[in-house]
Amino acid sequence: MSKILITGGAGFIGSHACVEFINAGFPIVVLDNLSNSKEESIRRIEKITGKTVTFYKADMRDAAAVRRIFEEQQIDAVVHFAGFKAVGESVAKPLDYYENNIGGTFVLLQIMREYGCKTIVFSSSATVYGMHNPIPYVEDMPTSATNPYGYTKVMIEQILHDICISDPEFRAVALRYFNPIGAHKSGLIGEDPNGIPNNLLPYIGQVAVGKLQQLSIFGNDYDTPDGTGVRDYIHVLDLAKGHVSALKYAKEHAGFMPINLGTGHGISVLEMVHAYEKACGKPISYRIADRRPGDISANYANASRAKELLNWQAEETLETMCEDSWRFMQQNPNGL
Ligand code: NAD
Ligand code: UFG
Repeated sequence: MSKILITGGAGFIGSHACVEFINAGFPIVVLDNLSNSKEESIRRIEKITGKTVTFYKADMRDAAAVRRIFEEQQIDAVVHFAGFKAVGESVAKPLDYYENNIGGTFVLLQIMREYGCKTIVFSSSATVYGMHNPIPYVEDMPTSATNPYGYTKVMIEQILHDICISDPEFRAVALRYFNPIGAHKSGLIGEDPNGIPNNLLPYIGQVAVGKLQQLSIFGNDYDTPDGTGVRDYIHVLDLAKGHVSALKYAKEHAGFMPINLGTGHGISVLEMVHAYEKACGKPISYRIADRRPGDISANYANASRAKELLNWQAEETLETMCEDSWRFMQQNPNGL
């Protein structure tokens, strides 16, 4: 039976996607080198779904290891999450980011070609809209980046686009995620960053659970309703479901297609803090700090292409995003 290879399937978004693919009846194989995740997340996927997961602890840059998977498993599509994702770290270590994200994708695409596998769903990001597009972001706007991480997404989208032009049977959907947050309803899988979190939600969660003292809100003088930054936060479960729809779409449509996965609504940092306080039932200590370099004031998606092509739209709410995140934090205060 043909299977889907999920790269980065032990990570935050990948693990939720594994659950959704299994629930939708797709046989999956997971590849992850566990550089930013733990094998425990595979056990948790198994616990949630009641199914055994075929897991290869392997690096996507290791051609022999990837080839072995294609040799041993009948892979007919790839859902490609694996990569480094920290913007600040990418500025400090650009070579690592280009080598892992682009180099790894190269190896994967070459081996897909060797084995005649022509379907890929790729984890792109709203970061490809750069600094200068007006909001809401629409897929046909020009792409650009402001840091090496963002450039890896822009370049991989370009590579996929070019492959689709060269091979009329190739199909690639680039899903441009906005800000994924939340966790599985079971509280068994969720976001488990190494070290001090860079992103808002895991930071708030660690303040709530008592691991961190105080949130710094990066700027309250933006041109937004309350002065704090506005983003389109999307529940990771909605996002995961979007991948199942995207894969079904890709199987039926050749060519390159970028699709936003967002709710279409912006939430400010202060609104998020208050929603989380409600979910966890205690105050979140915060202070107003300077703006974070590189941040934009506001972004959110135009989510109509996903609705039109994938028949997908976000269903969770700000409340459930915070409640589910808090459940995961309470059950796993020290991560997985
Ligand atoms: P994550 O770090 O939790 O998951 C990525 C997984 O890839 C990890 O399990 C890591 O161990 C694995 N990995 C990294 N390099 C690898 C390699 N060379 N070989 C094999 N495995 C490797 O991150 P996430 O939040 O789940 O993000 C998944 C994807 O979505 C990434 O490509 C990321 O850039 C993209 N994305 C994430 C966000 C976000 O805010 N979380 C937003 C937009 C896009
Ligand atoms: N913020 C704080 N304090 C924190 C962390 C964040 O005030 O401790 C604010 C930020 O200034 C921003 C908002 O919360 O206004 C969201 O910040 P995140 O770091 O959670 O998310 P970003 O929107 O900055 O980054 C996300 C992804 C990146 C991606 C980027 C652009 O994490 O991978 O969107 O699409 F590149």
